[in-house]
Amino acid sequence: PSLQSLHTFSLPASCRTLLRITNPAQLYDHDFSAPFYILGEGSNSVFLADYEGTVIQMANLGVEIVEQAEHYVVRAAAGESWHALVMHLLARNIGGLENLALIPGTVGAAPIQNIGAYGVELADILYQVRGFDIASRTLKTLDKAACQLGYRDSVFKHALKDRFIVTEVTLHLPKPWQPVLHYGPLQALRNETVTPEIVAKQVMAIRRSKLPDPQALANAGSFFKNPVVDKTQAQTLAQSYPDLPLYPVDAKQCKLAAGWLIEHAGLKGYQQGGVRVFERQALVLVNDGHSEGEDLRAVIGHIQQTIFNKFGIVLEHEVRLIGPQGEITIQEAHY
Ligand code: FAD
Ligand code: EPU
Repeated sequence: PSLQSLHTFSLPASCRTLLRITNPAQLYDHDFSAPFYILGEGSNSVFLADYEGTVIQMANLGVEIVEQAEHYVVRAAAGESWHALVMHLLARNIGGLENLALIPGTVGAAPIQNIGAYGVELADILYQVRGFDIASRTLKTLDKAACQLGYRDSVFKHALKDRFIVTEVTLHLPKPWQPVLHYGPLQALRNETVTPEIVAKQVMAIRRSKLPDPQALANAGSFFKNPVVDKTQAQTLAQSYPDLPLYPVDAKQCKLAAGWLIEHAGLKGYQQGGVRVFERQALVLVNDGHSEGEDLRAVIGHIQQTIFNKFGIVLEHEVRLIGPQGEITIQEAHY
């Protein structure tokens, strides 16, 4: 089966077997001894070549909303669309997810990298995750602490990688609603008159102005993570580059804007084959529809080398890269 339309970067690739899960009970029937890759909508996964394993696509549906005294409890199945869930709640006048509007992908993938945007991350509202534990072949519930959520990080990328399939996510959305307006372009909104719909509209307008719609131009969102560096290294860089955006992480560390670094290394529009650095947001790589894994590898390598030479910073990829045998790192992709 072809994977080209099953991942938003849309490289030509196939897999040996495709298993679509519409009911978690199907997972009990699967033998996990052969290589497998768990897939949602493929908006953070790039298949560099034909994958010689089974792709398990999570497509189970269902949403349940229960109002309690202090919060709304929202239980959503892994295969639900994240953005559709945000819109569904807004239509019922339930706020809390509006800053995360228009993030592509499934509900089940949201905890994997702790999706975040415009000052809110999943960790702020996640209550628990339920899923299939492959070793014990049982359904297990993990509370938020057990998910070990960090910046674009969770236990599912480490101890539970390839061991746990998320089947359902439960959120707690506090009452009364509290707007989060501290992220750059949201600061223009007035706290007294703002509503969840107004925030969602603003977030969607900003996103549409910067980020390409994968339906129109293949991409996988931010390709690299924003690097987290020591404050001393950040201060040294800030002396040479006073405009470099810095976000404090804790007493010792700062996060830098990778998009700024890539733009200021002169790489906007840089292209190999059909893969190029997007002109409106340099952290995004796009595929004009005629690219191969080799083009992407060349662009990644050039960006990493240029940024390291100019700023002494190693960019790590946020996107998951899949080669013939399974997930690989950028270094392994430079074969
Ligand atoms: P996939 O790409 O299918 O999977 C991602 C990872 O999760 C893979 O490692 C996969 O194995 C694993 N996985 C998926 N489902 C499950 C499951 N049920 N159980 C266990 N593991 C699973 N991200 C942000 O955080 N903030 C943004 O603002 C943002 N903007 C984006 C904008 C664009 C235009 C695009 C294309 C992407 C953007 N992303 C953003 C990245 C992407 O939306 C998120 O990573 C999203 O959570 C991916 O969902 P998916 O279903 O497409 O995941
Ligand atoms: N910038 C530039 N040039 C660029 C891109 C950005 O100078 O080409 C500067 C901007 O002017 C701004 C700063 O860098 O001062 C940050 O840019 P932006 O607000 O666009 O956000 P980002 O840091 O590039 C992160 C997330 C996005 C998320 C936005 C909004 C990561 C890796 N990316 O991007 O998430 O939507 O913040 O919160 O953390 C994704 O993960 O796929 C994604 C799109």
